[in-house]
Amino acid sequence: MAPFFFFLLLFSQILLCTAVETINSTTPLSGTQKIVSKGGRFALGFYTPPLGNNTASSTGNYYIAIWYNNIPLQTTVWTANSDVPVSDPTTASLAIGSDGNLVLLDQSKNRQLWSTNVSVASNSTVAIIRDRGSLDLMDATNSSITYWRSIDHPTNTWLPGGKLGLNKTTGVSQRLVPWRNNANPSPGLFSLELDPNGTTQYFIQWNDSITYWTSGPWNGNIFNLVPEMTSGYNYNFRFINNAMESYFTYSMKDDSIISRFTIDVNGQIKQWTWVPASENWILFWSQPRTQCEVYALCGAYGSCNLNALPFCNCIKGFSQKFQSNWDLQDFTGGCKRNVPLQCQTNSSSAQTQPDKFYSMASVRLPDNAQSAVATSSQACQVACLKNCSCNAYTYNSSGCFVWHGDLINLQDQYNGNGGGTLFLRLAASELPDSKKSKKVIIGAVVGGVAAALIILAIVLFILFQKCRRDRTLRISKTTGGALIAFRYSDLQHVTNNFSEKLGGGAFGTVFKGKLPDSTAIAVKRLDGVQQGEKQFRAEQGA
Ligand SMILES: *[C@@H]1O[C@H](CO)[C@@H](O)[C@H](O)[C@H]1NC(C)=O
Ligand SMILES: *[C@@H]1O[C@H](CO)[C@@H](O)[C@H](O)[C@H]1NC(C)=O
Ligand SMILES: *[C@@H]1O[C@H](CO)[C@@H](O)[C@H](O)[C@H]1NC(C)=O
Ligand SMILES: *[C@@H]1O[C@H](CO)[C@@H](O)[C@H](O)[C@H]1NC(C)=O
Ligand SMILES: *[C@@H]1O[C@H](CO)[C@@H](O)[C@H](O)[C@H]1NC(C)=O
Ligand SMILES: *[C@@H]1O[C@H](CO)[C@@H](O)[C@H](O)[C@H]1NC(C)=O
Ligand SMILES: *[C@@H]1O[C@H](CO)[C@@H](O)[C@H](O)[C@H]1NC(C)=O
Ligand SMILES: *[C@@H]1O[C@H](CO)[C@@H](O)[C@H](O)[C@H]1NC(C)=O
Ligand SMILES: *[C@@H]1O[C@H](CO)[C@@H](O)[C@H](O)[C@H]1NC(C)=O
Ligand SMILES: *[C@@H]1O[C@H](CO)[C@@H](O)[C@H](O)[C@H]1NC(C)=O
Ligand SMILES: *[C@@H]1O[C@H](CO)[C@@H](O)[C@H](O)[C@H]1NC(C)=O
Repeated sequence: MAPFFFFLLLFSQILLCTAVETINSTTPLSGTQKIVSKGGRFALGFYTPPLGNNTASSTGNYYIAIWYNNIPLQTTVWTANSDVPVSDPTTASLAIGSDGNLVLLDQSKNRQLWSTNVSVASNSTVAIIRDRGSLDLMDATNSSITYWRSIDHPTNTWLPGGKLGLNKTTGVSQRLVPWRNNANPSPGLFSLELDPNGTTQYFIQWNDSITYWTSGPWNGNIFNLVPEMTSGYNYNFRFINNAMESYFTYSMKDDSIISRFTIDVNGQIKQWTWVPASENWILFWSQPRTQCEVYALCGAYGSCNLNALPFCNCIKGFSQKFQSNWDLQDFTGGCKRNVPLQCQTNSSSAQTQPDKFYSMASVRLPDNAQSAVATSSQACQVACLKNCSCNAYTYNSSGCFVWHGDLINLQDQYNGNGGGTLFLRLAASELPDSKKSKKVIIGAVVGGVAAALIILAIVLFILFQKCRRDRTLRISKTTGGALIAFRYSDLQHVTNNFSEKLGGGAFGTVFKGKLPDSTAIAVKRLDGVQQGEKQFRAEQGA
């Protein structure tokens, strides 16, 4: 009897241990402990991002995070101390602080790393992990009082039931901000938020300044520019707009479907759905539709290419500034020049060659062009060479444009709006063409051009002769000189025996024809025999 009782006690202890869903003033969270929501859907604890190659290794940086507890692929939906990782979770604790807030303490440094930071009226609060993926700070004695909900402070994930909008009394909006890279949850350069000016559209911005995508306004049913949101959609979206706040929220039509909305490291927003059969997340849709539409994705002197993987590469003469970040899919650090320009070095100009230009055809031209005064491509190049801060120029039908400072938002193999040929300034040593090989190349080019010209001349001569023969054969001039008379048989020939009728006019029918030189013509055949000559002259005068 006693052993059985002991076993029951132990079992209930284990059950209690694994089923804990709260943090209160006497049960802080530390080390490998976690709390799990009542239905087992979400867990909260210390989390360390796996590195790309080897999922067993870790960064040694720990973050308080919420992740799905009921799927085999650990997927976080929220992080607390995104900017200030903990190096050893056994010396850290997530606890109810003396002011009633939930706080993260680093005991080894006796430092508070993070806090829910709200004013709490009660002297007993409790933090509870919910089945909708939210950590809620509540009054322990009155469950109808909630002080703070993590779902109202999203990081890179917007969960069903969460708000994404604007608090009108504080002017503070919820924003989705991606991780810096796949191993670092600190905020990246991109953000999604509801228009702070009060319209019903979302913007994605780069560095809080450049808007590179908008959802279009909400029409009651869908966002205008996201037609993917059709009626067969799995989600119920609602827009709430009152004096206090305006926000969107969504729920799943089928609550058993696991779905999440994220902004990813590379600036696209994505809707994912968990597919149990394949044990993986399936991408439902993403915006902007192509990766290269994300502004400045590849950083300074990087260029985006939809036909390459990874999408980003450094342009000629430049290499990755932070190679390790590029390995983690964070390209925003950009690239640096391999060899300084002549004007940037102190060496005497006699020793080094002047800077040269490398031509990049069919690129999306960088942002922040400045127009310069030059009336030829050559003059535009000279204008750029004059100023050491000029890194590139282009000369197009609008004139001469130069770029001072970093080149950003470039795209390769681009033929859309704002495309052209960029002339990139590089140190001469980056574009080697020794005098000898130059001579050979020039010789080859001159030889080739000469041969081409001779062949062209022969072809032109033959064509000219043929053309003359055709004309003399078929055309004879009238005495008036202004009119050219064609023989009926010739017209019969060029209109393929008046086979293709274009339309009818006064006294005649119009046929399509083709001259021997391929010129398309229209031939009118007069049908009224009596007035033919008179009518013909009248048309000639018109
Ligand atoms: C904290 O929660 C534990 C169980 O999770 C409970 O035993 C304890 O009494 C609670 N403490 C307070 C102060 O409510
Ligand atoms: C991935 O593995 C390669 C070779 O095993 C190594 O050189 C590289 O540093 C690893 N990258 C990361 C991010 O761990
Ligand atoms: C807490 O909130 C106050 C304003 O309510 C703010 O001034 C302060 O910086 C916040 N502290 C932290 C640690 O976020
Ligand atoms: C909490 O506040 C109540 C009344 O506001 C008081 O009776 C109680 O003693 C306080 N408890 C603690 C632990 O301070
Ligand atoms: C709990 O809080 C609500 C809202 O503040 C209040 O109306 C209610 O009376 C409180 N209940 C108790 C038992 O204190
Ligand atoms: C807006 O923010 C203020 C201050 O944090 C808060 O008191 C208020 O409840 C918020 N309003 C809404 C509608 O969330
Ligand atoms: C929002 O309002 C500000 C100031 O009223 C204005 O400068 C800005 O252009 C507006 N933005 C948009 C997207 O309408
Ligand atoms: C982002 O903007 C800030 C100023 O608001 C600027 O200092 C910073 O350099 C910008 N970041 C990049 C990557 O351009
Ligand atoms: C060029 O010379 C100046 C002073 O003569 C010095 O301060 C600067 O660092 C030098 N720059 C380079 C790139 O060597
Ligand atoms: C070079 O261009 C920059 C940016 O337009 C300008 O501020 C600077 O004065 C120019 N320098 C010279 C020597 O013209
Ligand atoms: C020429 O290039 C400049 C700089 O990118 C651009 O603003 C302008 O629209 C281009 N003009 C044409 C006709 O493509």
